[in-house]
Amino acid sequence: NTAGTEAAKRAAGEAAAAEVRDGDVVGLGTGSTAAHAIRDLGDRVDDGLDVEGVATSYQSRALAKEVGIPLLSLSDVARVDLAIDGADQVALGANALVKGGGAAHAREKVVASAADRFLVVADGSKLAEPLDYPVPVEVLPDALARVERAVRDAGGDPELRSAERKDGPVVTDNGNLVLDCDFGAVGEARSLAGTLSAAPGVVEHGLFVGMADAVFVGDDDGDATRRS
Ligand code: A5P
Repeated sequence: NTAGTEAAKRAAGEAAAAEVRDGDVVGLGTGSTAAHAIRDLGDRVDDGLDVEGVATSYQSRALAKEVGIPLLSLSDVARVDLAIDGADQVALGANALVKGGGAAHAREKVVASAADRFLVVADGSKLAEPLDYPVPVEVLPDALARVERAVRDAGGDPELRSAERKDGPVVTDNGNLVLDCDFGAVGEARSLAGTLSAAPGVVEHGLFVGMADAVFVGDDDGDATRRS
């Protein structure tokens, strides 16, 4: 996301990182806002904070390594104390998010679901009621045509995500494809989430409904407000 200022993203990321305590296992989210939380945690590790991270993507793993956060493998982890992650859009009233702008939402959802507390970090440009951001759907490559039809049947307009600096589609960290599915305004996020989850060939979709325990919203003055 480029609409929010770095000051707002940093404020949100650092406010959530301040929730981390000695001994915590922390889910490390993906994107430019979560990156501020990861860097802040790295600074605190330098100062002696004892934490272990679980990365949600290649990007967050690389950044965590760079800033010195010890890492656990997601495949070994059933529970984390808290997870901090960004979002592409946030509907506070419905406690619903769209995630997956970075195509990392499958692992992000596994980590968020494993978290005792899932903290979302966002700048104010992400807030929307209702959600209307195209929903990323990660798809088994062989199921592409079938899932496109299921998305159309659910009222959506699917578009295969392509890469900017590569000919051909985006391939996720898990070797799958991504459909960005425009449903217009999503009034019933929970119902749409269930419909998408039920379609064979859908690995995971980017609607996170009822998962956030808190949303930290940063503003351009560098302040963050806890909303939930
Ligand atoms: C990654 O797939 C997404 O779910 C990100 O969490 C999301 O794109 C947020 O990124 P920014 O903080 O850069 O907007």
